[in-house]
Amino acid sequence: MFAVVYDPSLAVGELAGMRRRRRRLLASAHGRVVELGAGTGLNLRHYPDGLEALLLVEPDAAMRRRLARRVRRSGRAAQVVEASAEQLPFADHSVDTIVSTLVLCTVDEPQRALEEIARVLAPGGVLLFVEHVRAESSWLARWQDRLSTPWRHFACGCRCNRATVELMRAHGFELEVTEAAWRLMPPIVRPLVIGRARPRSA
Ligand SMILES: C[S@@+](CC[C@H](N)C(=O)[O-])C[C@H]1O[C@@H](n2cnc3c(N)ncnc32)[C@H](O)[C@@H]1O
Repeated sequence: MFAVVYDPSLAVGELAGMRRRRRRLLASAHGRVVELGAGTGLNLRHYPDGLEALLLVEPDAAMRRRLARRVRRSGRAAQVVEASAEQLPFADHSVDTIVSTLVLCTVDEPQRALEEIARVLAPGGVLLFVEHVRAESSWLARWQDRLSTPWRHFACGCRCNRATVELMRAHGFELEVTEAAWRLMPPIVRPLVIGRARPRSA
């Protein structure tokens, strides 16, 4: 059901700025690229040409079907991979760019996902992200806490109150990050962080 309603529920937010953010973020993707939780493939059209490989990781079968269809229609040489961010089927230090857009809120074990990202990134490799996060405003953060359980059921596992930036820092990532708002989306998922992260050792 989530896969069926996913694109229509995001459409307004995409038009109100998210599409532009995806395009800007992905302009610097390079080399061997892994996208985590690629969903229905909303990022696909924004990748630059000339990538060495584009590997689209998605654990959910219904999402994967839509993703595969979008890949076929796009004519891009991308490969859909059944896996989760917590267990990436890639060798150590073998990936130049990892992309995570609206995914670290949903993974069950973000710590393990961050360890996997650090493991597979090559020296100099980068994680490009757009994530909605826990609000700076204590008033909104309280609402995110109150609504987190019903929201999780409604939005297929999404934790609207996850402090993703703090988690990344705690796991040894260095970040360049800007804050923004996901316009025209529900307030509890509106606070966004956009940026690049590198494991300190990379
Ligand atoms: C909110 S959607 C985002 C989809 C896409 N990245 C986008 O920007 O539109 C979250 C996606 O993460 C996927 N997902 C959930 N748990 C995951 C996990 N443990 N590892 C990787 N992806 C996961 C879901 O199946 C879903 O496709």
